[in-house]
Amino acid sequence: MKLAWTEQLSVGNAVIDSDHKNLIKMIDDIVHAIGARDRHALAKAFKLLESLLCVHFANEEHIAQVIEFDFSKHKPAQQFSLKEIRRLRDELITKDGVWPDGAADHFTSSLKCWMIDRHIINLDMLMKPALQALGYEYWPSWKEGETNYTAGHTANLYMQLFDKPFVNSTISQL
Ligand SMILES: [Fe+2]
Repeated sequence: MKLAWTEQLSVGNAVIDSDHKNLIKMIDDIVHAIGARDRHALAKAFKLLESLLCVHFANEEHIAQVIEFDFSKHKPAQQFSLKEIRRLRDELITKDGVWPDGAADHFTSSLKCWMIDRHIINLDMLMKPALQALGYEYWPSWKEGETNYTAGHTANLYMQLFDKPFVNSTISQL
């Protein structure tokens, strides 16, 4: 099962779409590690996914606050997502690569269902009309003391975890 971002998943904003492409790439890495029963790669991929999720959730909350979008549904959903991802990680790490093929399929479809259906389609799409009205490239400036560190942070994390550079071409090939 290949996970891929498509135009139908666009929420109308370049930064949020880019985050989603990265997250889908990370979930695809996890799916590969599950298939390969590679405990080491799995732990690394989950660590990166959790870090990217935190950055992404901060980005979504930031733009929602600036455009005064009601974020009350997103906030508890974000916290639940992090808990669920950690629960899946712990379950997989505990199994130490020992699971039947059917179980791998189950974990894979759980991750896909969470990312594509529950997060992007059911939740983030609620923001699409408001985001589209601002133009695709719109991004609010950060207040003093805040830093939009997504790109650099992602690149650093990727280098730390995988010992190779995280290049933009990786994303555009999705
Ligand atoms: Fe999102």
